Amino acid sequence: MRVGLLTGGGDCPGLNAVIRAVVRKGEHHYGDELVGFRDGWKGVIEHATMPLDVERCRGILPRGGTILGTSRTNPYKVEGGVEKALATLRDERIDALVAIGGEDTLGVANKLTGEGVGVVGVPKTIDNDLSATEVTFGFNTALQIATDAIDRLHTTAESHDRVMVVEVMGRHAGWIATEAGIAGGAAEILIPEEEFDIEVVCDALKRRHEKGRFASIVVVAEGAQPKEGTMAIQSGEVDQFGHVRLGGIGNSVAEEIEKRTGFETRVTILGHVQRGGTPTAFDRILATRFGIAAIDAVHEGAFGQMVALQAGQIVRVALDEAVSELKTVDPDLYHGVAEVFFG
Ligand code: F6P
Repeated sequence: MRVGLLTGGGDCPGLNAVIRAVVRKGEHHYGDELVGFRDGWKGVIEHATMPLDVERCRGILPRGGTILGTSRTNPYKVEGGVEKALATLRDERIDALVAIGGEDTLGVANKLTGEGVGVVGVPKTIDNDLSATEVTFGFNTALQIATDAIDRLHTTAESHDRVMVVEVMGRHAGWIATEAGIAGGAAEILIPEEEFDIEVVCDALKRRHEKGRFASIVVVAEGAQPKEGTMAIQSGEVDQFGHVRLGGIGNSVAEEIEKRTGFETRVTILGHVQRGGTPTAFDRILATRFGIAAIDAVHEGAFGQMVALQAGQIVRVALDEAVSELKTVDPDLYHGVAEVFFG
């Protein structure tokens, strides 16, 4: 078969491991020809390809990023985008397409299935917010990076008796914030799922200081929202999938804390550091398992499906089910575990 591959949306550690696994099993086991599309759906619209074979994939397993490049292009938002994409797939004689991405990229994959394209999805996102899979690769690496950062911030916070606000990624779901906050011993964790009241956060910090704890870590997910009317936040540009560019809530939170408590406060925005660099062993293994399962799915004609992890096993789920619901933070984990250590 001629199998196309693309990576779309924000990059994340482990993408190259998926590509390597698809190519290795596709070429060696099934005798496939693999075609890489550059920069996600953009490459399909613009007919930008690169040859992919086992030789090209040497050495990429531990490398972050994606050798295919990525973009947030949505063919349904580009004039003539879908027609051009279908024409490219026809011209390239693509029998099946493996699309590696999050809710946006897989949403497009799902719609193209309706146009008769044989697509198999592979879930990726550091945000870990896809409901059909227990976990996405990239999350574990991002979580470890955020936890390491919190560990480092603890020691400097203690030396200076400061509040350290750490902003982590997490647009709709606060998985990184919650788990890094638990692992790193945060005094407060603010996530998109739970609107926060800055006054309550400040009161908790004051009580903590009264008890003799002068250094505190406050973890804020970039998508955390204050209760209406409690504090001002900035808003940014919107992309082709309708998402506002986030980043900066940490500054507002830090400013408010310093103003309302009088405690010296600093902010660290981890940003894209969380998406860069070497994937953890966990992510490399999960990505490799997903890649192998995806090429197997192609050869079993399981189109319109996404590979997923459920109860430790790789399974297949319908793409429309996979993109229909976000996986937000388990309230038991947030309230029952993380919150026990607040204040
Ligand atoms: O891929 C998810 C994500 O990392 C979000 O957590 C974040 O809001 C967004 O991507 C950032 O995107 P960009 O790389 O386009 O700035």
